[in-house]
Order: sequence, then structure tokens, then C-alpha cells
Amino acid sequence: MATRRSDASDLIDGLNEDLANEYASVIQYRTYASTLRGPHRLTLRSLFEGEIADELRHAGLLADYIVALGGAPTTTPADVPTADSPLEMLRAVYEAEVDTIQRYVERRSQAEEIGEHGIAVTLDDIIEDETRHRDEMQLILDGWESESTQRSSDGRSPAATSREGARQRPARTRARETAGSSR
Ligand SMILES: [Fe+2]
Ligand SMILES: [Fe+2]
Repeated sequence: MATRRSDASDLIDGLNEDLANEYASVIQYRTYASTLRGPHRLTLRSLFEGEIADELRHAGLLADYIVALGGAPTTTPADVPTADSPLEMLRAVYEAEVDTIQRYVERRSQAEEIGEHGIAVTLDDIIEDETRHRDEMQLILDGWESESTQRSSDGRSPAATSREGARQRPARTRARETAGSSR
């Protein structure tokens, strides 16, 4: 046990980076939920608010592990990106979830490397939560960005373009066919 801290110092640093980002996620979702404007406010507000409990729970798990490993949990959140429109908010939280999953996959390997199997299993559960968050945002973005490209070609992300190419065009075609056949 006496050597645990020195073995774990890289993992502690990594978990503290994750903790700072979990706190940032809480602030990000809270701020976006409150500052949303426009016709989608109520739907997106409840979606964003619904993520906060998960992110806070993740922060608690990380802080407890950092202490158990002999470290000190950070009290400073990572930077939160500003976003002015609902679409910018969705893109920002989607990117944050993608980055978060990448970080946790790395952290999982770090935990396994030093024999912290319990932490690795917990990180698996957190990865599952973040994947669900990412997929929710992606599904909304897919429909939203393909809708807005019918009106304008501005502001599209390359990721949205490829996602639209893969899935949205056939879906719209089907929707038009269905609408056409019912009249
Ligand atoms: Fe999280
Ligand atoms: Fe998340």
C-alpha cells in the first residue's frame, strides 16, 4: 500500500483531468439549459438538465477514486465553451462527449496497467453513460443539420455532412414517399 501513490501518480493526474471535465460538463449543461432561446427551448432544456445528474455522479466516483489512490481531487473545472445558438450548444456538447469518451478509454488502459481493475470496470460504466449522451446529441444533430441544409448551406460541420450522407437522405426520401402516398 505504501507504494500505491507513486505507482498511481499518472492515473491520479489523468483522473483529475477527467474530474475537471466532469465539473465543466455540469456547468456547460446547466448554463446552456438556462440560456437557451427559441422554439426548441423546452425540449433542449430538459435534455441538457437530464444529463447533469449523470455528470455529477461521475465526478463523485472520480473524486473518491483520486482520494483512495492517495491524491487530492481538483476543485477547478475545465474551460466551458460559449455557444450562442441551440445548434452551437448541441455541437459543443456533442464534441465534449466525444472527447470525454476518448479520455476515459485511455484512462481505462492506464488503470489496467497498474492493476486497478475496479477503477477500470467503473470507467466502463462511465463510458457507457457518455456513449448514450453522445448518441442522443448525435441523433438530434443529424435531423437538425439536415433540416437546416435544406434552407441554407451555411454552418455545416464535415461530420454532419458525412452522417447526413449515410443516413438522413434516405430517411427524408422515405418521409416524402410516405407523405406523398397518403394524399
Ligand atoms: Fe460524465
Ligand atoms: Fe456526458
